[in-house]
Amino acid sequence: MSQSSGLILAIESSCDETAAAVVERGRRVLSSIVASQFAIHAPYGGVVPELASREHLRNIVPVVRAALAQAGISFFDLDAIAVTEGPGLAGALLVGVAYAKSLAFALNKPLIAVNHLAGHIHAVLLAHSEKPDLGNRRSLALVVSGGHTHLYLARQQGESLAYQNVGATLDDAAGEAFDKVAKLLGLGYPGGPWIDALAPHGDPSSVAFTLTQVKQKAHRPDSPVARFPFSFSGIKTAVLRYVQIHDLYPSIERRRKALATLSQAGPADALPLCDARTLGLIASFQRAVVDDLKRKTFQAAEALGAEGILVSGGVAANRELRARFTQEAERRGLPIAFPSVALSTDNAAMIAAAAWHRLLAGEFAPLDLTAEASLALGTK
Ligand code: KG4
Ligand code: ZN
Repeated sequence: MSQSSGLILAIESSCDETAAAVVERGRRVLSSIVASQFAIHAPYGGVVPELASREHLRNIVPVVRAALAQAGISFFDLDAIAVTEGPGLAGALLVGVAYAKSLAFALNKPLIAVNHLAGHIHAVLLAHSEKPDLGNRRSLALVVSGGHTHLYLARQQGESLAYQNVGATLDDAAGEAFDKVAKLLGLGYPGGPWIDALAPHGDPSSVAFTLTQVKQKAHRPDSPVARFPFSFSGIKTAVLRYVQIHDLYPSIERRRKALATLSQAGPADALPLCDARTLGLIASFQRAVVDDLKRKTFQAAEALGAEGILVSGGVAANRELRARFTQEAERRGLPIAFPSVALSTDNAAMIAAAAWHRLLAGEFAPLDLTAEASLALGTK
């Protein structure tokens, strides 16, 4: 690749964001465009797969054009086209995969398939490109998003990273719990940023939530994944029970209606609509989820001899999570790194960053590539 431009155009369409980015040599972000579908899915309080596919179809051409224009390049300057092949919503992934394949074919450029979860991990490395050795050590990576709560042991292997899956959620993902609790409390979608913004106004010790502790023996003790299992469906039910017992429904309904009258409601609009009990519930929920993620991540890091921690995915944008993880890492003398907030949630720059290593390793995808909705990352 001696005469290469080092430019990769990446496309990401695994969930409810249509994204395209141009990144040079896996490090320098020339452009990163994200067309969010929040407004489309907000009335349903969650992603509606059929609507997501339709919006991706509508957005993909303008988003890719905008990514090239912002980078100041043309299709012909590219070295390769990268695309998220999975995991994600099948119909949503398919839009990106089909478009990337046609581009690669028409331009006669290599196609690179990227695992979305590897993309999230590379977002951390991309955000810290001034520290190129960050990916060299044996790190424990927590990917915590709306669809995933996974722990990986990540190690440098040749030009790429090799991953071993050492933990996962047995039911809901952490971000899903944020979204469902926010919906239950009459807040906006996606729920994470709303809870993040409202939690500092409540007393985190007002409701004593205990996260379900999954017994190791009950879940294939021979499997390393079973060593650090998460479970977030229990706390969601506990919040529901609290709402029922304290009859918070009338105030939730008042809040929902008041927010629905605003054109672009945000957490600041919700604050005066939340009483101290509701704010305490929100703060206690967030504290319990963050504490559980923190405890298991550091337990796993210690047990597996990790030399550093990487935290990524939408929930990694959470301020309390960042503060408490950073505090714990300092206490243990372990280096820790997060992506920027913009690179925490879904974007295509992270897909281009992960693709660069595959390009160096000559790992290209065939033109009959298909979307893999439940694609796993690494070994177990
Ligand atoms: O990584 P992402 O954009 O998409 C998936 O791959 O799932 O993550 C989206 C998730 C949503 O559940 C959203 O509520 C959550 O990340 N999220 C947050 C915050 N920002 C986004 N959760 C907690 N605090 C935040 N600040
Ligand atoms: Zn994601």
